[in-house]
Amino acid sequence: MKKRKWIWIGGAILIIGIAIGGYLMEKQTLRKLAENDDLLIGSSIRYDALLEDDTYQRLATTEFSSWTIENEMKMDAMQPEQGAFNFVKVDEMVQMAEEHDIKLRGHVLVWGEALPEWVSQQVVDRASAEQVLKTHIQELVKHYKGSIDTFDVVNEAWNDDGTLRDTIWLRTIGPDYIPLAFQWAREANPDAKLYYNDYGNEMSNAKSEAMLEALSNWKKDGIPIDGIGMQTHVDAADYRFSKNRIQKWFTRIEDAGFDIAVTEMDVKLQNLNNGDAKNVQAERFGDVMEVCLDTPACGEFTVWGISDNHSWVTEQESPNGKPLLFDENGQPKKAYNTLKRKLLF
Ligand code: G3I
Repeated sequence: MKKRKWIWIGGAILIIGIAIGGYLMEKQTLRKLAENDDLLIGSSIRYDALLEDDTYQRLATTEFSSWTIENEMKMDAMQPEQGAFNFVKVDEMVQMAEEHDIKLRGHVLVWGEALPEWVSQQVVDRASAEQVLKTHIQELVKHYKGSIDTFDVVNEAWNDDGTLRDTIWLRTIGPDYIPLAFQWAREANPDAKLYYNDYGNEMSNAKSEAMLEALSNWKKDGIPIDGIGMQTHVDAADYRFSKNRIQKWFTRIEDAGFDIAVTEMDVKLQNLNNGDAKNVQAERFGDVMEVCLDTPACGEFTVWGISDNHSWVTEQESPNGKPLLFDENGQPKKAYNTLKRKLLF
């Protein structure tokens, strides 16, 4: 009889615990929950959507503690004509972020894409390339000193086979453009956190191994590379995805002395058109969050967009990609609740 009584009491406590947990989860935002884990939870942010879409603005300012400027800081937007810097939109985003106590991630200083047309005419040899790149990096980093202190300095420099990507910077300067970019950024702001950022580098493979070897060698030589951003653009149908492999890889990057950020996560569904797709999506977001929480060097978990109607996947890959945490009406999806659960328990 006594034993049965205790079973009843234990059961009741468990049910009350679950109810309280559920209540807390329901009431809290992602941002509030992540604060308790000392984690920045971010999203990429678009200027137009922020101004024009009320739901987007509400979610951006309440659910996230970090914003990555999605497009407005790329070279084509920032320096449409040589020497004519256009800071207006990002300045406005900085102001709004400050009003909501949101941290900003500068994206991106050096990339082979999103270049203004003048670059192909003006960048013709090593000297002109160095001059253009150094000026671009230092103008941006100096302008945002005090308001943006974390940057994706170099973006997507490697091919899948581990060779360096053919960009105008590689063709003119050679592989040195990578360490030079970090040095120039450091000169402009000695306190900034400087990241290398790429996709397909969240597990060990030919590309990520080549990346880690090169970045580690440069770091040993004193090049100021503070962290590595793992974009983590995931396809729900990709059988290679493995939480275990991601965990092992994050641990290796941490052991090599780098900070870690998940910088652009989304999970596209268009190639997995079965009833299970949304569960797989939620699980994959949850797996990467769990790895980040279990890796002390991982201080940021950022998703690449807020709602499915403002996503590069929906626009550029497939309207059925639906890769984000909120649907096109701004309603939270299963993946959103999974992330909250991982943050709470
Ligand atoms: O805003 C204009 C619009 O006015 C015009 O009518 C329309 C016509 O093409 O273009 C719109 O701009 C597009 C912009 O996205 C906003 O949707 C640009 O053409 C398009 O090139 C741009 O694509 C961006 C892409 O990077 C290239 O810069 C995506 O939004 C952005 O999500 C994507 O982000 C990249 C990261 O920077 C690096 N990692 C991969 C990631 C996904 O590709």
